[in-house]
Amino acid sequence: MTDRLDIEVADAAGAANAKADPPKRKVFTRTYGCQMNVYDSERMNDVLAPQGYSVTEDLADADLVILNTCHIREKAAEKVYSELGRIRKVKEERALAGKDMMVGVAGCVAQAEGEEISRRAPIVDMVFGPQSYHRLPKLLEEAASGKKVVETEFDIDAKFEHLSERAARPVQKRPPAAFLTVQEGCDKFCTFCVVPYTRGAEVSRSVAQIVAEAEQMAAGGVREITLLGQNVNGWHGEAPDGKTWGLGRLLRRLSEIDGLDRLRYTTSHPRDMDDELIDAHRDLKTLMPYLHLPVQSGSDKILAAMNRKHTRDEYFRLIDRIREASPDIAMSCDFIVGFPGETDQDFEDTMDLIRRVEYGSAFSFKYSQRPGTPGATMADQVPEEVKGARLAELQALVASQQTAFNASRLGMTCDVLFERKGRNPGQLVGKSPWLQPVPVDAPEALIGTIQAVEIVEIGSNSLFGRLVAGHHASNGSSHDAIKEAAFDA
Ligand code: 5AD
Ligand code: SF4
Repeated sequence: MTDRLDIEVADAAGAANAKADPPKRKVFTRTYGCQMNVYDSERMNDVLAPQGYSVTEDLADADLVILNTCHIREKAAEKVYSELGRIRKVKEERALAGKDMMVGVAGCVAQAEGEEISRRAPIVDMVFGPQSYHRLPKLLEEAASGKKVVETEFDIDAKFEHLSERAARPVQKRPPAAFLTVQEGCDKFCTFCVVPYTRGAEVSRSVAQIVAEAEQMAAGGVREITLLGQNVNGWHGEAPDGKTWGLGRLLRRLSEIDGLDRLRYTTSHPRDMDDELIDAHRDLKTLMPYLHLPVQSGSDKILAAMNRKHTRDEYFRLIDRIREASPDIAMSCDFIVGFPGETDQDFEDTMDLIRRVEYGSAFSFKYSQRPGTPGATMADQVPEEVKGARLAELQALVASQQTAFNASRLGMTCDVLFERKGRNPGQLVGKSPWLQPVPVDAPEALIGTIQAVEIVEIGSNSLFGRLVAGHHASNGSSHDAIKEAAFDA
């Protein structure tokens, strides 16, 4: 995902606390990669707001440019360097007009490359890893004095403490659906993955911090929160009752917050799906019937080589338990094809797993060698053409399952949370309980509300719907709506 993301800023809140009004400046943020980077970009903009920064979508207008980078797959660093080449031209044009432009590289590429970045791209003033965002004002100050700033320390606790301070401030309007990071880092060390090296060891935020931030978000108009973590179901936090809670318990607590109608969480590891979390899918109306549970491969031999610490049978049993708790759930997954040593039979095992599970959607990737990970130096690397052919075959199967899942929604009435205006005039786009976008003709005033919508047409990703007259859903009780729809059908 390399979209420019629209990011809302709570500028007035911070600015009101400042002694003298700081000069008005503009920040342009480009966010790559996962949803945690989206969350981090929002937090960076929150931190910058009291410094006088508001968001611009026009690079040429920016006093500060931040590339929030992702390192999960190959050529990530190269993409950043070529983007920096384009930024250099804009910076030179601005200089001709007597205007300055500060450039920062953040995120996992920054963490991995460190000072190499400002050596290769001298226009870069600041390089800082994912755990340094709360220190941005200080880093900006240092950079403004002409120093090349490189900050790649791991101090997740300090970052989270800062985020919780922020939660105490009043908020500006927030989008109806937003992210909240509850856990960062990963101790699983899958042999293909850079995350344990770029994001560090697993750290969980406390219940008090998370609840405070969720309440603040709900007060600012957020109706749906997606809890984020590289290994989100590994979250275990200190609770006010002195005990350590798991994610299922946390979801129960969050579902009590007024105005918060929908909860989701991503990304989960099969080993950390405990009974309490599975039960939450049965018991909590607010917990949406969608689960992203990556398996990566369907071959036990490859799962072992990937250090996934679970077998295909264990995964099947887990899916059975989850479906028993939430029969209507949309399952989603990540797959890697062409991991070193993957034979035709191993790949066939993955295809067989997909046929048995039947996914609502899935992401799939060709294995790429990430320097520093054990997989990169394993024997029997799979040729590119083989990876390409396997990926195409797998994606065709997943696409047919996605189409079948979406087609099964036709004629149903479900709750839709309207998030934004659609492409066509008079149209809004919302999300179904199963996470598909739902374009509907509806008045703008319905943005931020949940409405009953009948699904009337199926697109490749989207479900097209129409408002159900006189049927105003006031909360996220999508399960009820679905049960009703099942009776209708
Ligand atoms: N090669 C290919 N895909 C990868 N992923 C992570 N590392 C690699 C790699 N080296 C995929 C995994 C993970 C998703 C976020 O990215 O499927 O779940
Ligand atoms: Fe990477 Fe595995 Fe951790 Fe997921 S669980 S972040 S794939 S090491």
